[in-house]
This record gives sequence, C-alpha cells and structure tokens, in this order.
Amino acid sequence: MKKDFVSISDLTRADVERILDLATRLKDRQAIDRKLKGKTLALVFEKPSLRTRVTFEVGMTQLGGHAVYLSQSDIGPGKRESVSDIARNLERWVDGIAARTFRHGTVVELAANGSIPVINALSDEEHPCQALADFLTIREKKGDLASVRLAYLGDVNNVCRSLVMLASLTGTSMVVGTPAAALQSPATVSGEGEEASAFASALRRVEVRTDVDPKEVVKDADVIYTDIWVSMGEEDRAEEKVRDLRAYQVNSEVLEAAKKDVIFMHCLPAKRNQEVTDEVLDGPHSVVFDQAENRLHAQKALLLLLLGGDVESIQR
Ligand code: CP
Ligand code: NVA
Repeated sequence: MKKDFVSISDLTRADVERILDLATRLKDRQAIDRKLKGKTLALVFEKPSLRTRVTFEVGMTQLGGHAVYLSQSDIGPGKRESVSDIARNLERWVDGIAARTFRHGTVVELAANGSIPVINALSDEEHPCQALADFLTIREKKGDLASVRLAYLGDVNNVCRSLVMLASLTGTSMVVGTPAAALQSPATVSGEGEEASAFASALRRVEVRTDVDPKEVVKDADVIYTDIWVSMGEEDRAEEKVRDLRAYQVNSEVLEAAKKDVIFMHCLPAKRNQEVTDEVLDGPHSVVFDQAENRLHAQKALLLLLLGGDVESIQR
C-alpha cells in the first residue's frame, strides 16, 4: 500500500481486497485488539461530521490508540497557519492524519509535506473511506463485486467520484444517471491534478446516462445509490442544483423498476423527501445503517495497514 490514502486511485485491486478482507475479519471478531497501542491519529476537519469523526475516534480507541480532533476553528488550515506547516508540526507528535477538507489539494498538501500517512476523510472531490465501506456492504449483501450492477442516481459529487473509481477498479458494473447539467458542473469537470485524470479515465469505464428516466437507469440494478444534492460548501448553488436534480429522486416507483431484491444505499446525512423518500430510506430494501456501521470496520482495517499495526494474527 502507498503511504497515503488520498484518493481511490492510490489503491490497487489487491489493496482493496486486502482492506475488505481484513475489515470482514475485524467485524467478525468484534474483539478489542490493541494493535495500535500508543499511536495517535489527528483528525483535521474543516467540515462537520457525525459518521466519519465517530468511526475514526472509536476505531482508534478499539485498536488501543487515541484520536485528537482538530476543527477548523482550532487550527485554521491556510488561515491561521499554512497547510504545510501544520503537516510538519503534526508529524513530530502523531502517527497519522485523517483530513476532511474543502479543497482536495489540502489533503494532497498534508500528505506531501509530512512523513506520516494521510487519509482523505472527505474532500470536495472524493470520499474514499465511504466508498470502501460501501463496497464492503455490497459484498456482504450481494457477494462477488464483479457480478453486481450498481446504479447511482443524482449528483456527480465527491461520493459518486469515489464510487465510480472503486467500481472501475473492482470490475463492478456501474451506471450513473444524472442530468447533463450536473455532469457539466464545475465540480464534475474540474478537479485537481492526478485525481482529476484518474476520475476522468474511471468515468469512461462506467456507463453514464444523462436526461433519461431514472426508472430506465435502475433496470437490472442490484444496488441503487444516491447522495444529497447540495454538498457541504455548495450552499450558494442550492437552488440551481435542486432544480436540475429534481427528476432523480429515489422513490418507491424507482425502486420497483429495479431487481426485486435490490438494496438501497445512501452515505448519509440524507435530506429526507428530497433525493430519497422516507418510504425508501426507512423501507425493507434500505441498508443505510449497515453502511454506516461498516465505516468503522473498513477504517479500522485501513488504520491497521497504514499505521503499521500487526495484521498477521488477524489475517489468519
Ligand atoms: N457519510 C459521512 O461521511 O457522514 P458524516 O459527514 O457525518 O461524517
Ligand atoms: N456529498 C456529501 C457527502 C457527505 C458525507 C457532502 O460532501 O456534503
């Protein structure tokens, strides 16, 4: 594995298998393994969080280590202090950084300026930890990832980008149903450096359907996935985005157009009755809280592999 996990493009297919297998073993054991005893993870968060913050903190505790939460107002990356100086300080005290940022480039800069592993805990361009937990969930529910059909409806955002890249890496069949306007939005076509070109080539390997009935898009789907239409930091574009995405709501009609045993996924938080109806979110096909639980198991595996925990005894 590379030193950092900034993007799905940092992983090979073998890395993904290793992480998911280790996550499954950790989940099955439900044991407190103090494999990261004495290690500290800094959480550098510019945006709010429930799932990501709690699962990283609980994950470190369960592995015998410790997490330090640093909010925007505590350290002000790029405002109170430069991002590179933050990295050069933190590497003297802690063993790893999980960073949730606005600009993807901030995570890249933290990684480039320190010797310790940096994990992307969500940036404007990717949410790779979410995608790993989601594919763990899909594998649990549907088996072989290469035999699954995943239909993503709605905004082509950070979550979608990581899912597209992971689907392309694992050979999972994926279709993205989105309005042409969303596909041409700055968030979709822009992007920084390597991540942008890795996403562009992954996008060519999945199917993209613009301006078609979502019921057409989900035909034959084993999994339907959606996310909020207005991501953190995009509040000034809310009106335009809601207007463009309105036709892409996941409701009972859309669900009925997929396979009978389709599962519904959402990274949460959801804006209820906007991108998904209560009926679907709380219905029998929904696995959203299994996804949330799997954030813990997938990230514990990642932490062990990146922060140098002894994984041999868990691998067996
Ligand atoms: N899915 C997810 O990352 O949730 P939080 O924003 O609450 O961390
Ligand atoms: N796309 C969402 C995901 C939140 C977990 C956002 O960036 O706000």
